[in-house]
Amino acid sequence: MRVFILGAGGFIGTHLIEKLLNDSDYEVSAFDINTSRLEKFTGNPRFTCYTGDIFTETEYIREQVKISDIVLPFAGVAMPSYYLSHPLWTFELDFEQNLKVVRMCSEYGKRVIFPSTSEVYGMSDGSSDLDEEESPLVLGPVNKMRWIYSCSKQMIDRVITAYGQEKGLQYTLFRPFNWIGPGLDTMNDAKEHRARSVTQIIYDVLHRGEVKLVGGGEQRRSFTWIGDGIDALMLILKNEGGHADSRIFNIGNPNNNYSIRELTEIIIDEMKKFPAFRQKAESVKLVTVTPESYYSNGYDDTKNRVPSINNIMSLGWHPTITLREAVNMTLRAYHE
Ligand SMILES: NC(=O)c1ccc[n+]([C@@H]2O[C@H](COP(=O)([O-])OP(=O)(O)OC[C@H]3O[C@@H](n4cnc5c(N)ncnc54)[C@H](O)[C@@H]3O)[C@@H](O)[C@H]2O)c1
Repeated sequence: MRVFILGAGGFIGTHLIEKLLNDSDYEVSAFDINTSRLEKFTGNPRFTCYTGDIFTETEYIREQVKISDIVLPFAGVAMPSYYLSHPLWTFELDFEQNLKVVRMCSEYGKRVIFPSTSEVYGMSDGSSDLDEEESPLVLGPVNKMRWIYSCSKQMIDRVITAYGQEKGLQYTLFRPFNWIGPGLDTMNDAKEHRARSVTQIIYDVLHRGEVKLVGGGEQRRSFTWIGDGIDALMLILKNEGGHADSRIFNIGNPNNNYSIRELTEIIIDEMKKFPAFRQKAESVKLVTVTPESYYSNGYDDTKNRVPSINNIMSLGWHPTITLREAVNMTLRAYHE
């Protein structure tokens, strides 16, 4: 079995490749504009890697799609600050370029496993668990640019589903709910205030002495350990009995539903256990800031997101790692 992963050098891609090379006999072809985090896999005879831009390397991508069995188009913009500062790029990459790849999969009869997002559920408030087949997808107004990511992902979910219906495309959509772990963005992203939650908070404790909580950090999310997420992806890849075909899977941990403030407090608590982090963790301050001052007027928020995970549990998966354990393992990785 040969898999072709675009955006392979990112957070999910690198963790998945590690698992595939260690625990399967799949051949992996990796593609990313930045392959620095993939260097550790070179030398493995089942791994090949190509550095290139999805916008321009169309013929290379076509050749890889042709010789692969499964395609995982993970290239994307996944940091909220970019949805606001680069909305067109977000649309062009997350929608247009990925659609190009999806169309190739349809043309050459390849299976595609596509990363949707929990963001497609839009302005949820946690009053009911978000369900792949039943929940409405409700977005904010157009002048709130944050939603361009969600809207692009929702549209490609719908287009992929339509390709399945009309052209017989073999597909699975998965929706990560705030996957966290080592390698979630870089400290450089955090330096520019662009990283996703856990990385940003760790950086702010270590280098700024204060953590800015947008709107007081009352927003709640269901945080999911990357290793749990990858185990779910492996079940989707294996696709026993074709049970993952033409389906959407939320992949999240409803037991890890915490506010950003609570997440911050857990990170600070755990940092105190590491001698190298203790002093900074003991003196850090939590500061409430407005969304407008942190992001821009284009920001809007989701109060709470809790996934229904019945679909993915039907494949034999359940999440195992608590938020505190996930934070501790992430800190250990940074510490090393
Ligand atoms: N991590 C999560 O919790 C999460 C949640 C919801 C959805 N997703 C989706 O899963 C996918 C992967 O997410 P991730 O967390 O690994 O993101 P990531 O940002 O860590 O990885 C994306 C990768 O795409 C690459 N890329 C960007 N532009 C490119 C281009 N022009 N050509 C080639 N490669 C390019 C980047 O270099 C990066 O390595 C994305 O589509 C994201 O929207 C992730």
